[in-house]
Amino acid sequence: MKSVKKVELHLHLEGAAPPTFIRGMAAEKHQQLRGVFDDQGRYSYGDFNDFLRVYEAATSVVQGPADYARLLSAVLNECGEQGAIYVELFVSPEFCGGGDLSAWRDHLGAMEEVANAYALSGVESRAVLTCIRHYGPELAKKTAICAAETAGGWVTGLGLAGAEDVGQPKDFAWAFDCAREAGLGLTAHAGEWRGAQSVRDALDLGVTRIGHGIRAIEDPELVRDLAEREITLEVCPGSNVALGVVRDWSSHPIARLADAGVRVTVSTDDPPFFHTSLTREYDMLADRFGWSESEFRQMNLWAAEAAFCDTETKARLK
Ligand code: ADE
Ligand code: ZN
Repeated sequence: MKSVKKVELHLHLEGAAPPTFIRGMAAEKHQQLRGVFDDQGRYSYGDFNDFLRVYEAATSVVQGPADYARLLSAVLNECGEQGAIYVELFVSPEFCGGGDLSAWRDHLGAMEEVANAYALSGVESRAVLTCIRHYGPELAKKTAICAAETAGGWVTGLGLAGAEDVGQPKDFAWAFDCAREAGLGLTAHAGEWRGAQSVRDALDLGVTRIGHGIRAIEDPELVRDLAEREITLEVCPGSNVALGVVRDWSSHPIARLADAGVRVTVSTDDPPFFHTSLTREYDMLADRFGWSESEFRQMNLWAAEAAFCDTETKARLK
């Protein structure tokens, strides 16, 4: 399915960093990274909390605007290889600078230049500044202000990721209200590690999309509600399998959600962590659920409609 033109709504910039990129940057800075890679140089982690630890350790290598620009370039290059024509990158300033976001205008400016260059070669991108739930609402406010102040260019959304079992979505209401007032699109991770109520709580933030959302399948009334309200799920099946959210590909609820009329889309989350790629996700879905180009075309139409970009760009994606 490499040739299918793809719209990816859920790709963490930091989580998309190839291990070779992180090792190279660490070496340049004479920075030691312990407990991050296995013998074969791949990211190595145990459970989800350990995944977050490794993820944050690897991300700590990437610091200044030039570092982020290089990372974005490596990631967009790979997106192009995978047949992506549009990608939304979840960028988390809270990982960088110890909570001081004052320099992030420069980081975003450097990344926007890279993004503009890749757009010319057919890979459009937008940034969703993403709050980290386990870092708490105060830092999230700073991220939302940063997003609101830079809205209108490459930054078009606000998101919420991190440990779903820490705090409540309503703790982040100020940040999401601030972003909405600035005209930004809104999405939140939910229904990955917790069930239907967690998805409902995230919807109360006024989001139009849910990151993962797959555990909505546990509640038929919520499934109906998602379908009726045309909420788009950013489903990342390979991530769910690798992290043990579902037992295996065949038991993944994506096909059942689609059959129930929910707008499902396909993304990779943090591909090198899960030994996957956007093409592989499509191939696995084709193999396990018999999906063909027509199903993927429908999903990409939904993704284009749910994308946080202007109507002209959306039209070009369809
Ligand atoms: N950040 C990166 N990947 C994530 C995931 N799968 N769930 C929550 N936060 C994340
Ligand atoms: Zn994610």
